Amino acid sequence: MKIVHVASELFPYIKTGGLADAVGSLASTLARDGHEVSVFIPGYSAVFAQPDAAAAERVLRLKIEMGDTFVSGDVKVFSPCPNLNIFTVCREEFFDRKGAYGNGERDYEDNYLRYIFFCKGTVEALRLLEMQADIVHAHDWQAALMPLLLRHAESRHGATLALKTVFTIHNIAFQGLFPMRAFFRTNLPDELRGIDGLEYYGQMSFMKGGILFADRVTTVSPRYAREIQTPEYGCGLDGVVASRAEDLSGLINGIDPSVWNPATDAHLPANYSAGDMAGKAVCREALLKKAGLDPAGDDVPVFGMVCRLTEQKGVQLVLDNREFFLKHDCRLVVLGSGDKRLEGEMRALAASRPGKITLVARLDEAMSHLVEAGGDFFVMPSIFEPCGLNQMYSQAYGTPPLVTRVGGLADTVTDIDENPAGGTGIMFPPTAAGLRDGLKRAVKLFADKTTLAAMRERGMRRDFSWAKAARAYMELYEAAL
Ligand code: ADP
Ligand code: GLC
Repeated sequence: MKIVHVASELFPYIKTGGLADAVGSLASTLARDGHEVSVFIPGYSAVFAQPDAAAAERVLRLKIEMGDTFVSGDVKVFSPCPNLNIFTVCREEFFDRKGAYGNGERDYEDNYLRYIFFCKGTVEALRLLEMQADIVHAHDWQAALMPLLLRHAESRHGATLALKTVFTIHNIAFQGLFPMRAFFRTNLPDELRGIDGLEYYGQMSFMKGGILFADRVTTVSPRYAREIQTPEYGCGLDGVVASRAEDLSGLINGIDPSVWNPATDAHLPANYSAGDMAGKAVCREALLKKAGLDPAGDDVPVFGMVCRLTEQKGVQLVLDNREFFLKHDCRLVVLGSGDKRLEGEMRALAASRPGKITLVARLDEAMSHLVEAGGDFFVMPSIFEPCGLNQMYSQAYGTPPLVTRVGGLADTVTDIDENPAGGTGIMFPPTAAGLRDGLKRAVKLFADKTTLAAMRERGMRRDFSWAKAARAYMELYEAAL
């Protein structure tokens, strides 16, 4: 099958979160299975810092109509492996910047222009290169205009570009909401301005367009697919999502074993597997050293956390459990940055217990692997979580996760008390009291080494492979066709 993915992130070229991992793994798994896969991403300058991307060749010059002006750019392509072509939609003014979406303080004000340009440039490339894709699969708000733009595009020969489209919601909290005057830049017919089109309470919503106009809509776990049809989790789009319930499915992401496998992981000082866990202790020691924490004996649990520091990830719940972390003899390593207030409060918590708690406030791929491997437990108390990857990584690394009962976390972790023979983690409600209870259960469990060892092994033997996830997408593509 000929499959085109359109996304604003792609591992290892540009990543701010799990979107990059998910699109990267799905695309390369499908390519490995023999499908012809193309991925369109914005030509951020960071992309071209990677050696294979630096050799990208220009295949098109673009002149994109945006409102009453034409904006130029170009499209470059490179191929990291057989069957996989990566197309970058480039324009220096838009994508030669430090951050992908903002400068660290706030989002760029012209994001609507940047991503309208990206989507229109992609449509233009599909048209001019005469790529007869079977499926165009767009991800998240930055690519959400694709289904509509394709419906209104014509091929070089004047026929409509009737390509089948799939739209995946990776996170409904980010919708691409802009003042309605942004609509003018899309050159879409005026009737799409209104409530049956892209309007959302007087603003223009990119994501609403993806949900309403794609042939199929997916999100990244079955439970999140149900949750986003409710006001509690739908972030105002629950009605729109519910209107597509018949075409909506929840497909769990996988993890890429060539990147996330403790037996081969090159970021670790020692490798290990379910059959030989010796290396995990070496990783634990290395983690404590690298994080600048005191050594910890067999009776002192090491908690690890890797995430964007945002409300979503339940950082506040950890802060609300300050007492627990001050009172118990344990270690806590938090790797993450983001919201300045949360970062400040986390830093203050760490400062009040030097040697025991630390915040490493940066993006650090290598260290994220070490936290997964070296921790005794992985803490992921998200308030909501569409799928979540770290809880799967941590199970694969023999580090039982502490998770809230939401979204993909509930779909991928089994609570040890609810299912003693099949448990792989600890689950609780998304509240401070819930997390407190989870932490206490973890401390107790840490003293019961037999149960803990069995639990680790079960997690490590679970199949979270992309092969399974990719099969589910293939079935969906076939059904759409
Ligand atoms: P989300 O996409 O909502 O942030 P996911 O769990 O799906 O959550 O994916 C997060 C990804 O980003 C994981 O691969 C995780 O390891 C990575 N990540 C988050 N923060 C950091 C960090 N500070 N350093 C390195 N990797 C990080
Ligand atoms: C989003 C979600 C996360 C999910 C990721 C990949 O960033 O927040 O839960 O795992 O997308 O689908």
